[in-house]
Amino acid sequence: MPDRYDLPAGFRWGVATAAYQIEGAVGEDGRGPSVWDTFAARPGAVRDGHTGAVACDHYHRYPEDISLMKGLGLDGYRFSIAWPRIQPGGSGPLNPAGLAFYDRLVDALLEVGITPLPTLFHWDLPQALEDDGGWLDRDTAYRFAEYAAVVADRLGDRVPAWITLNEPFVHTVFGYAMGVHAPGRALMFEALPAAHHQLLGHGLAASVLHERGLEVMLSNNLTPVQPASSDPADVAAAEAYDVLHNRMFTDPVLFGRYPDLSALGVPDDIYGAVHPGDTDLIHAPGLDGLGVNYYNPTRVAAPTDPGLPFDLVDIPDVPRTAFGWPVVPDGIRQLLVGLKELYGAALPPVTITENGCSVDESADPDQPRIDFMSAHLDALAAAVAEGVDIRGYYTWSLLDNYEWAEGYHQRFGLVHVDFATQTRTPKASYTWYRDLIAGHRAGRPE
Ligand code: FCB
Repeated sequence: MPDRYDLPAGFRWGVATAAYQIEGAVGEDGRGPSVWDTFAARPGAVRDGHTGAVACDHYHRYPEDISLMKGLGLDGYRFSIAWPRIQPGGSGPLNPAGLAFYDRLVDALLEVGITPLPTLFHWDLPQALEDDGGWLDRDTAYRFAEYAAVVADRLGDRVPAWITLNEPFVHTVFGYAMGVHAPGRALMFEALPAAHHQLLGHGLAASVLHERGLEVMLSNNLTPVQPASSDPADVAAAEAYDVLHNRMFTDPVLFGRYPDLSALGVPDDIYGAVHPGDTDLIHAPGLDGLGVNYYNPTRVAAPTDPGLPFDLVDIPDVPRTAFGWPVVPDGIRQLLVGLKELYGAALPPVTITENGCSVDESADPDQPRIDFMSAHLDALAAAVAEGVDIRGYYTWSLLDNYEWAEGYHQRFGLVHVDFATQTRTPKASYTWYRDLIAGHRAGRPE
């Protein structure tokens, strides 16, 4: 069996974060409000009323955080750029102090030999755009491309590769269909125009980045879907869920067309959102790499609620993270091999842009995270051995941080953060990852 030391030479090691989850400083240096500031302030929206107002105070402490990254020996750092720092009103006037922050961050990374890998949108839409309809409004896609141009013009001389969107599936379903994330709208399937407009925004921004000679990736949250049984009703429900979670977000980009949405009861033109030529705008710029965020598989049964085409059910007999997410390392191999089978030559090289777990540190220091990462990296090596072109792994996350609707309750970091004092303390997984990176570069250890 291949293991993590068999990952190819030149494989890139990284960590991933996102602006609202770590930066804090939400009212500083001209940053405008985002949908997450608004949502987190809504009573009952986030566990214990936690907000990202301070988070890890990374906006001020980024030099210390980059020292921690340097200590790991990373090749790359995936972070996100807060659109409301760049355009506080979502369009038009630029905020020089916001651009200057990312300028400093990029320079500080390059100084220690770490390649910056920015994500342009990781869910913190400027509130002003949400007030005009957010991603339900087609115009947001065009505003996104303008914002991409501004940032690329400023940083593109030093940043070779860019991620447009983070997890449009999760943002659409949690934010617009179920209302458990910002912007807190509960539109069920009528949320799907928000998915299309994000993909359109991706396509338009990808053209902007390519015109400037930059590489483009898109990070999707993908899950291997398993039917609860071989009963045809369970199999059909699993196929419907696969369309919603995976194919709807990847087919337009890699194939230039949407999958058949009829099993979801959604019209082909997604309630009028898809205009003639849109799928070309999404597909034609091409993708230099697919970012895959993998956390767990999904098990699906025939619906019991007539309003939905599927039921999500528990995966039996597997360990769980502190969050309650099932731990199935082989799922990453199944997912990647499945992508290669489905997309064939249309699949660009893959980078794992998130993978990790939350650990209850009162129960156990950090061994579950080490076990999680080592098992997933071994499964990744198995996928490489089966012919999938995988270029790198960015673990989620460097620091314990603001885990959206869970507030500060889920600890995903390689580095512990005491949120009262902002003291950073590397955990056992930090040392383990550092040694793995060094060991992999040096060749298989004895
Ligand atoms: C992903 C998000 C990321 C983080 C992890 C745990 O869905 O992209 O911001 O919250 O989950």
